[in-house]
Amino acid sequence: MQSEDDLQALSRVIKARKTLKVLGDVEHAVEISEENASRYNRKVIESIETAGWAPFHYNRGHNGLAEPWRAHVIWHEDCRIIAGHFHDWFPDVKASNKLPAMLSACGALVIVTWLPQFRGKDQQLEGFQNSIGLPKQTTIDDEHLAASAAMVQNLLLLLTASSMGTYWSSGGQFRTSAMFDRLGISQGESFLGGVFVEYPCSVGESIERVCGKQRSNRSQDHAWLREVRLNES
Ligand SMILES: Cc1cc2nc3c(=O)[nH]c(=O)nc-3n(C[C@H](O)[C@H](O)[C@H](O)COP(=O)(O)O)c2cc1C
Repeated sequence: MQSEDDLQALSRVIKARKTLKVLGDVEHAVEISEENASRYNRKVIESIETAGWAPFHYNRGHNGLAEPWRAHVIWHEDCRIIAGHFHDWFPDVKASNKLPAMLSACGALVIVTWLPQFRGKDQQLEGFQNSIGLPKQTTIDDEHLAASAAMVQNLLLLLTASSMGTYWSSGGQFRTSAMFDRLGISQGESFLGGVFVEYPCSVGESIERVCGKQRSNRSQDHAWLREVRLNES
């Protein structure tokens, strides 16, 4: 950080980030003009690129890339197409499922995946213990996931700083291999989050905005914070 001003600005963005589930109407989806789409789509791409400055511990080395995460951007036009087909593609899903409504309101949906290196593979962990006795392969995968989560948080903050609404979703049907196939996502990737992005230009009478359920459950006094003091006598 360069200055006290930078620190203040960063703290403000961190506190301003909040979950905003934006629900639209599939029949009357939020319209985004070409001008706004090109303006905000560019900001989304720039935010994803900058989010990639997240730390990562191990070179994942998949397809020649060191990063353990991947980002797949679905622009609003394709989100509307998915919303329209959603119940045909997933006939067993309840009519009340919120994904079509969110796909009808967002400016973009960014699917972030991570690339497990060992998990799910029928590999013998024995003989791969690290110096503190944990199976090293498990630790590496945990750290690939942790790094990818840091990338998602970076993305949420950057989008917030650009006045865009964000919602980190667990993805529902976006996690399924059927959806991965439709979106051209490799089955070797593991779903981490679907970041729904609301563009500031999105206005519409039928839009509903819902906050995150855990927002108000934050401990006021940071009771999860503990300072360690060693008592050497
Ligand atoms: C890994 C992860 C997955 C999440 N998935 C969902 C989800 O599927 N549905 C949902 O309503 N909120 C989801 N959230 C958002 C949380 O509900 C939200 O962060 C929490 O309520 C706190 O609100 P805040 O983000 O406004 O501080 C997810 C958050 C994280 C970190």
